[in-house]
Amino acid sequence: MNYIDQEDALNYAIKEKLGSNAKYHIMTYGCQMNEHDSEKISWVLDQAGLQATDQIDEADLILLNTCSIRHSAENKVYGKLGELKAKKRERNLIIAVCGCMMQRKESRELVLEKFKQVDIIFGTNNIHKLPDLLLQHLETGDRIVNIEHSFQATDDQLWANRYFSYKSFVNIMYGCNNFCSYCIVPFTRGREVSRPSKDILEEVQTLVDSGVLEITLLGQNVNSYRPGLEGDYNFTRLIYDLAEIQGLERIRFMTSHPKDISDELLKAFKDLDKLCNFLHLPIQAGSNRVLEKMNRKYTREDYLRKIYRLRDLVPDIALCTDIMVGFPEESEEDFQDTLDLVREVEYDAAFTFLYSPREGTKAARNPNQVSQEIKKDRFDRLLDTMYPIFEKKNKALIGKTLDVLVEGESKHNGRMLSGRSDGFKLVHFEGEKDLIGKIVPVKIQEANSFNLGGERIHD
Ligand code: 5AD
Ligand code: SF4
Repeated sequence: MNYIDQEDALNYAIKEKLGSNAKYHIMTYGCQMNEHDSEKISWVLDQAGLQATDQIDEADLILLNTCSIRHSAENKVYGKLGELKAKKRERNLIIAVCGCMMQRKESRELVLEKFKQVDIIFGTNNIHKLPDLLLQHLETGDRIVNIEHSFQATDDQLWANRYFSYKSFVNIMYGCNNFCSYCIVPFTRGREVSRPSKDILEEVQTLVDSGVLEITLLGQNVNSYRPGLEGDYNFTRLIYDLAEIQGLERIRFMTSHPKDISDELLKAFKDLDKLCNFLHLPIQAGSNRVLEKMNRKYTREDYLRKIYRLRDLVPDIALCTDIMVGFPEESEEDFQDTLDLVREVEYDAAFTFLYSPREGTKAARNPNQVSQEIKKDRFDRLLDTMYPIFEKKNKALIGKTLDVLVEGESKHNGRMLSGRSDGFKLVHFEGEKDLIGKIVPVKIQEANSFNLGGERIHD
């Protein structure tokens, strides 16, 4: 069957089995990579003639885009699949599960075995195959499973339905080669593959032409971006090339690995106005003993050197990190090293986690696991140490005027808008809805640990 015949067959099968207004609903778990994958899935399904709905009860096709970074993320998915079983009994419903969990054999087999209501399973590299899998399911009624790695970063032709008209995620690379000893990602997302720079630059140009002001470059480890066949072209050169695009106002990226962040990239923060003054640089732990066991390949001293270098270049850079407590064998002394580091760096924000053993990783095989009780106690003490620091950093901005990209109405108060500063601070201020999607100056008047409040300045 050629592509057109297949498209006709799919339209026909959708109409016949699901009706002429077939709708889909996507539930996304996990990181920005997954959020962006869901935007791609949405685009693929629109092409296949379905319509998106945010109402789960209206949907004929429900997709769960899953995450497996921690055990709790997987549990949420199992809970949701249990709930969907009842819905499927009530009506004609197709349930598809995709994302990182489906790349893991153990989770996939458990879903296949325990959740018979699941009709389609596909992996992180098979989004483009979804129409084909849907057609197979509609025609045969069989359960369809497709997780093979058939997609190449070099032939990325998938567009995405961006949820926002003014800011977008853009993938620059997929996968990870690092094998941090706690992490499941190299097993679920495979080895690193970088997209050709030409494709990325074209994609960003198209987005900017359609009104996008801010892009966030996505990769598990953006600093090791190395497109094949492009000589010594690297991440910093990509940033400089992107900064040339007229009309693009802000460039962000995530996530960086401290061992790979180069001096030339640090300099780019100073050189390029468009590169936002915000760096998310996960430290994970403050003890060299733990960092070594984590296979992070840097010491706390290496990390701090990079932070000081960056602060020399850009004194007002906002810093964010990821920290994990309760890694196997982490002693009270090791944990104190983490608290010391946090006090020394004075982060602006942080993502904090309890270590969660992931089957198949080296750390999960370590017999000296830390008890849940100790993990929780350390977690609380970490937050008690960090929150006053966040507050102090935010209060230091009172009286300053920050450029804010307005993202929407505040959840708590309809007259208030909220947006992000260059340093990724959440800022609330009073204003009209027509400011959404614009960058406006806001004078900061109040602050707590997590956000800022201010007044719009009229220029
Ligand atoms: N347990 C707890 N946190 C984890 N992370 C990754 N793997 C685990 C795990 N097994 C955290 C790390 C990483 C972030 C995305 O999730 O801090 O930077
Ligand atoms: Fe996981 Fe480490 Fe790769 Fe990040 S760099 S995705 S923590 S293995």
